[in-house]
Amino acid sequence: MCMAILWLASVSLLICPAVSCYECFVEVEDSLRLCWGHVLTHENVRNVDECFRMLDRIFNTNESVIEAGRVGEGYDIKLKEILDAEILPIVEEFDQQLNKDSVYESRLLTAADNFIAAASKLPRVSGCFPPCGFQSAGAVYNCITCQYDSCEFPLDCPVQEIEVMENSGARMWCDVPFDLPNDIEVIWRFAEEVKTQEMDQFKEVTAGVDRLYSIPSTRLQHQGTYQCEMYSGSRSIVRLYFYITVTPQLVAGHTELQEIFDLSLLPGGQLLAAPGAAPRSFLRLLLFLLTTCLTTSLLLLFLSLGVLYWTSVSEEERPVGNTDEDEVLGPVLL
Ligand SMILES: *[C@@H]1O[C@H](CO)[C@@H](O)[C@H](O)[C@H]1NC(C)=O
Repeated sequence: MCMAILWLASVSLLICPAVSCYECFVEVEDSLRLCWGHVLTHENVRNVDECFRMLDRIFNTNESVIEAGRVGEGYDIKLKEILDAEILPIVEEFDQQLNKDSVYESRLLTAADNFIAAASKLPRVSGCFPPCGFQSAGAVYNCITCQYDSCEFPLDCPVQEIEVMENSGARMWCDVPFDLPNDIEVIWRFAEEVKTQEMDQFKEVTAGVDRLYSIPSTRLQHQGTYQCEMYSGSRSIVRLYFYITVTPQLVAGHTELQEIFDLSLLPGGQLLAAPGAAPRSFLRLLLFLLTTCLTTSLLLLFLSLGVLYWTSVSEEERPVGNTDEDEVLGPVLL
């Protein structure tokens, strides 16, 4: 009878697909020893199955326990040490002893709390570089699979925008911030015109080890999305996207002229490159304007003086005729 229950328990353990930090680290024999003396208070009978269900509830399906187990690479050994330190003393203490379910519950809950507290202090993943790529180095432990997950980023990186002038060059680097295996193969693909990340829109352009793709002289038909995909063996590591916009030269020339025109409207025709020079050139302009103003006023003054003089002279000239007469008459009178 007892053996049958033990056998059933171990079979249910093997069949049950849900794994946890507990099952990743505690041996089945230890669990069986732990649960051997589990007594249901209500019925006052020994029941191993209920004990396993309790372990499930406290460890296996508990989010806090699973989250605490998400440690960085190499620290699963520490997880095992922490859990062993909590569980194995209870196993020894309960070995071949009958204990009530309430006792099991409180002891196991305390063990789970201690595990969460200690495991949460272990280093988490630090080597993950978002937002994309399969990064095996930045792995995180997963108590559901008892394995390390990768950094859990998608393979596809966001599209980078590149703007180039027609007839100029464009260079794209298939580069990632994380470490790559040595056997990298690079495939460059192109989707003409469109900005896309849909795999079926791309046509393969080159395949090899070249991480750089360069277009020496861009034409309008070079506009579109470029994709580079890196493989290690048959495994895809990352997919980068570049969307190139080619500005036609004619439009480019027009824009340049407009810019030059706008710049020439600045005070003193000074370029924006030297902001410290701007006030000085403004002063010079002010000085120039003042001088011009003064010169103009002086000129106007002289002009009006000239006009005044001329009118007074011409006014004097009219009586000059009389004077002449007087002069003529003068001597006569004298
Ligand atoms: C998970 O376990 C912790 C510690 O034992 C407990 O405080 C928490 O309520 C549990 N969460 C769930 C959803 O059962």
